[in-house]
Amino acid sequence: MIYRKKIIAGNWKMNKTQAEARVLVEDLLREIGKFDDVEIVLCPPFTALSAVSELLSSVSNVRLGAQNLHEAPSGAFTGEISAGMLRDLYVRYVIIGHSERRQYFHEDNATVNRKTKAALQAELRPIVCVGETLPEREADKWKDILETQLRDGLAGFGDKELADIILAYEPVWAIGTGRTASPAQAEEAHQWIRKVLGTHFSPAAAERIRIQYGGSVKPENAKELLSKPDIDGALVGGASLDARGFTAIIKNACLD
Ligand code: PGA
Repeated sequence: MIYRKKIIAGNWKMNKTQAEARVLVEDLLREIGKFDDVEIVLCPPFTALSAVSELLSSVSNVRLGAQNLHEAPSGAFTGEISAGMLRDLYVRYVIIGHSERRQYFHEDNATVNRKTKAALQAELRPIVCVGETLPEREADKWKDILETQLRDGLAGFGDKELADIILAYEPVWAIGTGRTASPAQAEEAHQWIRKVLGTHFSPAAAERIRIQYGGSVKPENAKELLSKPDIDGALVGGASLDARGFTAIIKNACLD
């Protein structure tokens, strides 16, 4: 069986000033400096990237991520941030197509595709989010929804591009609700995602890609989720704002 290094990312969303970000990162680094067998990514808001980047400059096992980007390299796009600007701050990862972007900022699968392309061109590693809403889950349409999100979101890419992409399965009904998908439900969705990818890419590429689970991941449920064979990490929102909680989640991803 192929080895996929677990990847735990903290999505801070619209939280933390620069000063607050520094405190959180300093607290975290005291704890997580030791974990080498897990990839750790911190995704602060744009305004705290620079401060966090500085603190991570001498740290090898924690990488910097952004929560969004604009697809154009530069130009008249008031309020937007390009991939090149992120690179300039030593950002390595970027979350794309988070359900909050889809819901509140009308991003669709075509937007996700364009942004993913822009990220890859700038040598940023996209964390592409997919996931169904509660009505879609209840109507048993989740497989179709995931298939469409993957087909359209990753359109035009081949194995080479897929190798630099990380996927995050985030059922919308589990985000910030305290209602986590059961480990069995999450594993079933991850297996489905891998199966769909196997029809668009080579089976080996589908086997290699890392798929994070996201949606109310907490220290209490992380171990069971992360022990599932197709769950290769977590995209953590609320619980990543607390150094102790986030550390506990990372510990659960470490090899025994
Ligand atoms: P949550 O958010 O952990 O607060 O549910 C996850 C996410 O939105 O990435």
